[in-house]
Amino acid sequence: MEFSFEAANNYCLQHSSSTTELLEEIQAYTYQHHTEPHMLSGALQGKFLSMISHMVQPKRILEIGTFTGYSALCLAEGLAPGGALHTIEKREDDAKIAKGFFDRSPFSQQIIQHTGDGHEIIHTINEEWDLIFIDADKTGYTDYFQYLIDKVKVGTYFLFDNVLFHGEVLNEQVKGKNGKAISAFNEYLKNNNQIDLVMVPIRDGISIVRKK
Ligand SMILES: C[S@@+](CC[C@H](N)C(=O)[O-])C[C@H]1O[C@@H](n2cnc3c(N)ncnc32)[C@H](O)[C@@H]1O
Repeated sequence: MEFSFEAANNYCLQHSSSTTELLEEIQAYTYQHHTEPHMLSGALQGKFLSMISHMVQPKRILEIGTFTGYSALCLAEGLAPGGALHTIEKREDDAKIAKGFFDRSPFSQQIIQHTGDGHEIIHTINEEWDLIFIDADKTGYTDYFQYLIDKVKVGTYFLFDNVLFHGEVLNEQVKGKNGKAISAFNEYLKNNNQIDLVMVPIRDGISIVRKK
């Protein structure tokens, strides 16, 4: 039996628990006021991130690509008591919007924002990461991974967003530079023996990685 990817995602969303009012507000605000609202993780992926975080119970989470704060708040839901989430965003305007929402959340004291280039800022934060969510510049995924994999302990989890890159990776004639970069990154991860890896087709694809 054939079914569409969109219909399956909608069905999954309808049969998942609801998100919080604040997350609904962030989504509505982003779609009304931002020029790139499609960047937001959204309800199904957000619930997935929250569930993974609850399973890992991280003390320290690193996120690269805050945007308007949606995914950070989902990931923060699973923090261990006393835990903290560091999130990095290059664009000051987005970081400010996110701050407004973080301040109104139960996690305002646990979310630490960094504004600037993720490639520079990751060198300046000295933490032992339990869970890392990479959702920023697609051409930078390999560099982020190569830097972080040697720093983190065995058992650290990584989540990489947009690994299907709007389906471009399925096509042998990958078009844009981001699609090409993600395609190369996916091949690189698949051949890396330091990690255990599963790619799941939720929304635009997420790769879950565990350092062996
Ligand atoms: C896809 S959006 C993140 C969406 C967000 N994680 C969510 O799910 O709601 C990507 C974000 O990464 C930011 N970004 C891009 N390149 C970056 C870099 N080099 N360092 C830090 N942030 C970057 C962009 O400005 C954008 O806000």
